[in-house]
Amino acid sequence: MSALASFIEGLPKTELHLHIEGSLEPEQMFQFARRNNINLPYSSVEEIRAAYEFSELQDFLDIYYQGMGVLQTEQDFYDLTWAYLTKVHAQNVIHVEIFFDPQGHTERGIAFDTVINGIYRALEDGEKKLGITFHLIMSFLRHLSEEDGFKTLEQALPHKDKIIAVGLDSSELGHPPSKFERLYARCKEEGFLAVAHAGEEGPPDYVRDSLDLLKIDRLDHGNRSLEDEALTERLVREGMALTVCPLSNYKLAGVTDMTKHPIRTMLEKGLKATVNSDDPAYFGGYMNENYLAITEALDLDKDHLAALARNGFEATFCTREEKDRMLARLDEYLKR
Ligand code: ADE
Ligand code: ZN
Repeated sequence: MSALASFIEGLPKTELHLHIEGSLEPEQMFQFARRNNINLPYSSVEEIRAAYEFSELQDFLDIYYQGMGVLQTEQDFYDLTWAYLTKVHAQNVIHVEIFFDPQGHTERGIAFDTVINGIYRALEDGEKKLGITFHLIMSFLRHLSEEDGFKTLEQALPHKDKIIAVGLDSSELGHPPSKFERLYARCKEEGFLAVAHAGEEGPPDYVRDSLDLLKIDRLDHGNRSLEDEALTERLVREGMALTVCPLSNYKLAGVTDMTKHPIRTMLEKGLKATVNSDDPAYFGGYMNENYLAITEALDLDKDHLAALARNGFEATFCTREEKDRMLARLDEYLKR
């Protein structure tokens, strides 16, 4: 292993952009399908992996929603989340802020409570047994109506103490932030922080509207902000963190070649870019694989990697004291 690869392995990290349903590995898909008596349209793990060829976001989303159909019971959601936590624990991830897509499940007749209770119990066990601290983010599916989002918010309110922020994901083009302005205002009144996917496929205007209309506290992806100089300067000035997902960008063809990935440019412009995996089971890698891919393609050094990890801890929704504790662990590692 190269020196930089082992440096990445040991680096204390945080993950801030992970769809728990996107951590569903083909092997688990079969396991859950078997125990829930569900027929999959695939006969082998290899066949599933072969289907993971995407030319745009929607290609992926179609397969992602189909895949999550095997998740039925609270135990399924627990096992899915626990498997993710054990994987990232082995990669020295010490804090996670993960998304879940309740509407992807309630639409299929799975109760909101089943979903959140399974995920949350695994997160609590992860903190107790693996030392991984966490926050949970509830994402609204933007291809559905705002009204549907309001119904989901109602279901979430009894679980308010388990959810730190709301997010917005799914098909970006044609579903602008303005569609959810009232819903986000309500969520802010309820005390939730806010994030939104923007500028993954959508134009810089979607990023601007996420700031102005949705009042986001952190930006998911944000890649296309770079097309607009004034917007880029604003993001720098406001210290807005971006949860960048390198292998996802490559797999969904926003970035045709890893050597053209914008994350190094983002750092050079002073943007608070962080590294994340998005949907690791579908895009070919968890945290270390994402760090390694950009390191090799963009010739990053230890200072770049330390800056990315530091941005991650600074961008968490933790208290100042919690951030300082995590940053101290990073500094201790860098001194060694
Ligand atoms: N849902 C899961 N992954 C997503 C992504 N990368 N973009 C939008 N919605 C998603
Ligand atoms: Zn995402």
